[in-house]
Amino acid sequence: MAGRIPKQFIDELLARTDIVDVIDARVPLKKAGKDYKACCPFHEEKTPSFTVSADKQFFHCFGCGVHGSAIGFLMDYEHMGFVEAVEELATRAGLALPQEVQTTTESSADTGADLFEVMRDAARFYRQQLREHPQSARAVDYLKKRGITGEIAHEFGLGFAPDGWDNLLRVLGKEDTQRAVLARAGLAVKKDTAGYYDRFRDRVMFPIEDYRGRIVAFGGRIIDKGEPKYLNSPETPLFHKGRELYGLYHAREAIKRENRVLVVEGYMDVVALAQFGVDFAVATLGTATTRDHLDRLFRHAPEVIFCFDGDRAGRDAAWRAMENALTILREGRQASFLFLPEGEDPDTLIRQEGREAFLARLQSASPLPDYLFSTLVQQVDLGRLDGRARLVELARPLLSKMPGGVLRQMMLDRLAELSRVDVDKLGTFTGVQEPSLSSKSGPRPFGNPREPPSVVRLAIAMLLQRPELVTKVKDEHELAKLDLPGMPLFLELQRLLQTSPGLKSAAAIIENFRDSEHHPHLAKLAFWQHPALEQDVEAEFNGVIDRLSETSAKQRTARLLQKQDAVGLDQTEKDELARLLMLKKNTSRPSSPPH
Ligand code: CTP
Ligand code: MN
Repeated sequence: MAGRIPKQFIDELLARTDIVDVIDARVPLKKAGKDYKACCPFHEEKTPSFTVSADKQFFHCFGCGVHGSAIGFLMDYEHMGFVEAVEELATRAGLALPQEVQTTTESSADTGADLFEVMRDAARFYRQQLREHPQSARAVDYLKKRGITGEIAHEFGLGFAPDGWDNLLRVLGKEDTQRAVLARAGLAVKKDTAGYYDRFRDRVMFPIEDYRGRIVAFGGRIIDKGEPKYLNSPETPLFHKGRELYGLYHAREAIKRENRVLVVEGYMDVVALAQFGVDFAVATLGTATTRDHLDRLFRHAPEVIFCFDGDRAGRDAAWRAMENALTILREGRQASFLFLPEGEDPDTLIRQEGREAFLARLQSASPLPDYLFSTLVQQVDLGRLDGRARLVELARPLLSKMPGGVLRQMMLDRLAELSRVDVDKLGTFTGVQEPSLSSKSGPRPFGNPREPPSVVRLAIAMLLQRPELVTKVKDEHELAKLDLPGMPLFLELQRLLQTSPGLKSAAAIIENFRDSEHHPHLAKLAFWQHPALEQDVEAEFNGVIDRLSETSAKQRTARLLQKQDAVGLDQTEKDELARLLMLKKNTSRPSSPPH
């Protein structure tokens, strides 16, 4: 996703944004020295350790470790996607989104606005028809028959599209340009010959809102019997089925309160559940649960409960949702699966058995690992050796989808237990290998954290906190040859700052590393406090660079000497060695390390 927005745009956007304003509007901040503080909105605390730096344009919580730029804050706090957060900040800063983003996301400056507007007008029209149209009794009776109260119909903005080819067109499509907008919004359909007709006719209308509560589509249910039962808006510039979830905006507060979200299949399910006080449910829109859906859901709550019909189609849908969920499941995130009795859906069930019984069902939902293994185990005979081998075969492609971590390790352990294969051997069979616990926690660009902070680390922190220092870097070519942990990152950072002199804050720099494995390390270094970063930073930085150059020269000398002994040197190498040895003589006075 991040790839679609040019980096220069992000740089410009962050240069024009003040993170202090963005956060203060949501979490009131108090000035504390150079920085601003508040109690952390991401974990419970009594004394403020959530810090926002205006210099760095970065936030960081010393309690729970969350950190990021203004973009990151909106993603975490408002549950926005990356593009959404960028969009929000761009609107604030009065920046037009670059062309390539406009074509792929909803709001383009010249067209998005009128599409949103026409959706709002259409929703108002449909609601009004439900109250006033001479034929509205059909729709009202139908809703009543289904047990929907006027109150809940109002809450979800339900409406009525009357029968006829041009009810909406006559009101909202008086002019040619308006008709074209209706068509682009998916509300009218262009005829092959000439003219347009209303897409939704004689249906109960469910407006579909995006993450900000803007109407982006409609679902229309036929009144009583007919085909298709539900007609949805087509894909439009505003609406991408695989991304939106019905009821999410409406449920967002409840989801936050419950710390969990329930995913069901139908519009009516969401509405009926809400009517009975189960107000944290959302529905996919007649599609499978996609990765995009799951990303969005897990941004809202750590626990996602899927609720499916007990029939064949429901089981298939559940399995697909499980496969998608596996790819983003890690410690701290839970997915569970609930299957309803055949022939029932959440709508019919909650009406029959009420809220408490339904909530009790949720309690009994199977955690994803249980669901996965019990489904696989049903397909094999564990009493047979070749049956257990088959289990490993079936589990292999699934477990290899999971990101590494404790959870995956535990799933491997479970598989080992069930298949009675030694867990170490299993790693080789499944292609899913975890580093042993003693060497855990992934690549460390700076070596062992217990060692005193390295010079490279200090150099990186200095560039991050004082980007203008990049002009002081000398001997780049020598430095590039230096073989030390962290050096590739230092060089990458240095090149970035040289080519993008507009990068003035740590946050803007780190945004360039959003998809990089270095991101968390940089985020830490942005707030790292070290005496060398307090005073005389320029002099300190020169000292650091000198030390790096020296180390580089030493390494190079040692390598050349070694080569000389082993295979001999060519003329250029001999010259270089001579030069290096001269240099060494001149600099062999004791130099004080900068830390
Ligand atoms: N759906 C759809 N198009 C269809 C049928 C279904 O888009 N032709 C989607 C709708 O979002 C619908 C969901 O799939 O809400 C579930 O469909 P289904 O179980 O058939 O309907 P219910 O939600 O139970 O609808 P109702 O209770 O109104 O019959
Ligand atoms: Mn139903």
